[in-house]
Amino acid sequence: MNINTPENAEQLRDKMVADLRDLDAIRSDAVEKAFRSVPRHLFAPGESLEQVYAAEKAVITKTDSNGINISSVSAPRIQAFMLEQAGIRPGMRVLEVGSGGYNAALIAELVGDEGEVTSIDIDPDITDRARRFLDEAGYERVNVSVVDGEEGEPKHAPYDRIIVTAGTWDIPPAWTDQLADDGRLVVPLRVRGLTRSIAFEREGDHLVSRDYELCGFVQMQGAGENQLQLAVLHDVEGEEVALRLDDDQQVETARLREALGRPRAEAWSGVTLGGFEPWDQLELWLASAVPDFALLAAKRPARDKGIVATASPMGTATLINGASFAYRTTRPLNEERTTFELGAIGHGPDAQETAERLVEQIRVWDRDHRTDQARFEVHPAGTPDDKLPAGRVIDKRHTRVTISWPQQS
Ligand SMILES: C[S@@+](CC[C@H](N)C(=O)[O-])C[C@H]1O[C@@H](n2cnc3c(N)ncnc32)[C@H](O)[C@@H]1O
Repeated sequence: MNINTPENAEQLRDKMVADLRDLDAIRSDAVEKAFRSVPRHLFAPGESLEQVYAAEKAVITKTDSNGINISSVSAPRIQAFMLEQAGIRPGMRVLEVGSGGYNAALIAELVGDEGEVTSIDIDPDITDRARRFLDEAGYERVNVSVVDGEEGEPKHAPYDRIIVTAGTWDIPPAWTDQLADDGRLVVPLRVRGLTRSIAFEREGDHLVSRDYELCGFVQMQGAGENQLQLAVLHDVEGEEVALRLDDDQQVETARLREALGRPRAEAWSGVTLGGFEPWDQLELWLASAVPDFALLAAKRPARDKGIVATASPMGTATLINGASFAYRTTRPLNEERTTFELGAIGHGPDAQETAERLVEQIRVWDRDHRTDQARFEVHPAGTPDDKLPAGRVIDKRHTRVTISWPQQS
């Protein structure tokens, strides 16, 4: 029996839209209508319809020689909330950085016949695919070109909206130059290893965030490529432990490695989290509150062997303090494991003090910022300190990114 029939596709599309509403990823009728109109399966031929229409699944379209994903049709949930963040209206001109075809078709539905969509990708295999599928699905009017997104696409600028669909470490000048004065840029920006899809608008010579969402993306290639560095603390195969760091962060790897082998210190905050409560806001707070923030990534066998207390491949918030470090952890407060207390595990000569410092910041978050949103600002590189808002400053190649939180009275 062939289950890839148009009837099945329509039923699954209805279910996907209902799921995206439940997940609060689709919030507006306009975005819902776009998702109902575009047949997603035409952009991922050969995949099962169940896979294509699953709200939280991306369809991987290319991997590199190490098996790392470098291109995909993104998961509908991420596409939906980014389109909501962008607030696209009929008649707008939109640039998409990173093609796949499907998202460009959704944007084409949102801008209508009076608008214009341009989609660019660094990889000609991907633009060829996108061009073919867009034509087959009836979206010939979308412009597709092979270009390094770092340069944007001046040919069709200015844009009312720019949506970047690859994870980036910086905001190159081309994006701000090609953005209309009252435009909006939606971009998955990595700050101290944490990626958030941030909707920015212009305020004078800089950009200010309007909202942000947790997300994960394939990494930007080309001139803007910037990989996290790894400081390996334990390298037995299968149970590796490493710190993920930005390239401007210098740490004493040999001493931190030695520290991991020493007995641990613990500190507990008295702050609790529900079993299903997200902690992405806490991670962001810690990244902005402590000067030397890193992510401690560990494989599960490292936890099973007691080398670390918490194993997360993406990493756990960590404070580096010279030859010592402390990372966030939790302990269950009941047998049903529905409530957890947040704490820190420290290693090194100042293990206890470092763990206490991290725990103190967990308490500050709980007391002052648990329901707050951070504000990101992006100023051009070279902007003097006294022109930046109070908060953590993270220097990039083209910009100075700040993260600040509402002041407590
Ligand atoms: C997640 S995919 C894009 C998904 C697409 N927007 C969709 O329809 O779902 C990310 C894409 O970004 C592209 N990319 C990576 N670096 C780039 C760069 N510097 N300029 C343009 N595209 C880039 C990759 O080739 C990949 O195809």
